[in-house]
Amino acid sequence: MKKITIAIDGFSSTGKSTIAKQLAKELGYIYVDTGAMYRAVSLYALREGFINPEDFNESDLVENLHNIDLKFKYNEALGFAEMYLNGENVEREIRTLEVSDYVSKVAAVPEVRYQLVKQQQKMGEDKGIVMDGRDIGTVVFPDAELKLFMTASPEKRAMRRYKELIDKGDKVAYEDVLRNVQNRDYIDSHREDSPLRQAEGAVAIDNSDMGLKEQFERILNLVNRTINP
Ligand code: DC
Repeated sequence: MKKITIAIDGFSSTGKSTIAKQLAKELGYIYVDTGAMYRAVSLYALREGFINPEDFNESDLVENLHNIDLKFKYNEALGFAEMYLNGENVEREIRTLEVSDYVSKVAAVPEVRYQLVKQQQKMGEDKGIVMDGRDIGTVVFPDAELKLFMTASPEKRAMRRYKELIDKGDKVAYEDVLRNVQNRDYIDSHREDSPLRQAEGAVAIDNSDMGLKEQFERILNLVNRTINP
């Protein structure tokens, strides 16, 4: 069967990765969570002290980008690829609220974007890929055969993220998660380099009141129509 590229963009906690993972599994495609790459770079910057609440030493981060090795390794038991930073599995650490608080600033640095976009384009060379992020349909794969743009209200998204974090045992307040979601929405859609916006030709899906099953069926339908027009 013809292999295509599926680009999924949208605001944070719109359930992009859940849908993307499920879709990749169904189609036997590779799944790439590009947010994990920006998160891993942010974790590196935090550990090296390049970023803290008062200060962001952008030039030190840029000078050290060549020291950052990012790899995805498939975890059979989990059914998806986990993020490795310089050989260390950081899948859990990159999802903390601390990393979430800094990642939009790191993702706004053009040199960081340039490096990561290059790696992402390489991963998708052979098609048969589902990639999710903020600029996949606009910058990474503007020629993707299928582009989706996921949205939902900030309150619904914050509640989803809050429940995820609580389930993992993190002690967080809903108000802090909501503030983080709103801040990231603002920074992600107002930055100069590759701001989050609906790509040309993308199908918008507002899942504020849509269950996973309904969304999945709708998207699978779109995939089938794209592969066999
Ligand atoms: O999808 P996520 O919440 O894990 O993404 C984390 C951050 O990374 C998000 O605030 C924006 C940024 N990001 C980006 O700028 N471009 C991408 N392709 C993916 C994520």
